[in-house]
Amino acid sequence: MLSIKNLSVSVWEKEILNQISCDFELGKNYCILWKNGSWKSSLAMTLMGNPKYKITNGEITLDWENLSDLSPDKRAKLWIFLAFQNIPEISWVKLFEFLKWVYDNAIKTTTFMEFKKLIESILDELQLSKDFLWRDLNVGFSWWERRKLEILQMKLLNPKYIILDEIDSWLDVDAFKVVAEMLKSISTDQNSFIIITHIFTILDYLPVDETIVLNHWKVEEKWWWEIAQRIKENWFKK
Ligand SMILES: Nc1ncnc2c1ncn2[C@@H]1O[C@H](COP(=O)(O)OP(=O)(O)O)[C@@H](O)[C@H]1O
Ligand SMILES: [Mg+2]
Repeated sequence: MLSIKNLSVSVWEKEILNQISCDFELGKNYCILWKNGSWKSSLAMTLMGNPKYKITNGEITLDWENLSDLSPDKRAKLWIFLAFQNIPEISWVKLFEFLKWVYDNAIKTTTFMEFKKLIESILDELQLSKDFLWRDLNVGFSWWERRKLEILQMKLLNPKYIILDEIDSWLDVDAFKVVAEMLKSISTDQNSFIIITHIFTILDYLPVDETIVLNHWKVEEKWWWEIAQRIKENWFKK
């Protein structure tokens, strides 16, 4: 179980999250809801260990191990994965090199040919061009292609706790549907999706067990799926 206990966080010299607590149980899906600018992405960054976000109180634990001081790579090795709201472009790193480096470090060492065969089969499955492997990471890729490359990483690494930070933005309806179907096919009782959204449609594909409403500073309400439905219909009016 991934747990946040009494977590307070500060960034840019101000406190942004105040005494947040919630648990993410493996095998269940969750959604975190609230308006733009309510520090949702900041919470995702804190979970993943972005050093800009300083924990001033409380802790993040995974199966009782305290993660609060672990760097993002160590958290990734414990199978926490963040699909970014804004997927960065990284020049001078080829997609192939990036994926092989990650796989070799997290799972097992492979030869060039072994890894090429493995990754090409996943590219085929996702209907992505093999030429992508030899381009710089995300540079010039469309949002649709970047999202698919994140799904490729999920298929390659099989992470347990997958944080989706507004992955429904930037995609047209058709692209969104394909991405959502792919995510649905990845969802099992051996992983958990933590879905940050304010568009809701993703929840038709990935039903959630619990909704966490984050209101600026604190967890205002934790409830089952119905609250998402209620907000969808009435927006954020009480
Ligand atoms: N470099 C920065 N300096 C100060 N404030 C920032 C900076 N970057 C982002 N913010 C602010 O952080 C707030 C919360 O952002 P974010 O966590 O992305 O919210 P959400 O994901 O809920 O929309 C926003 O008001 C944003 O303007
Ligand atoms: Mg955000």
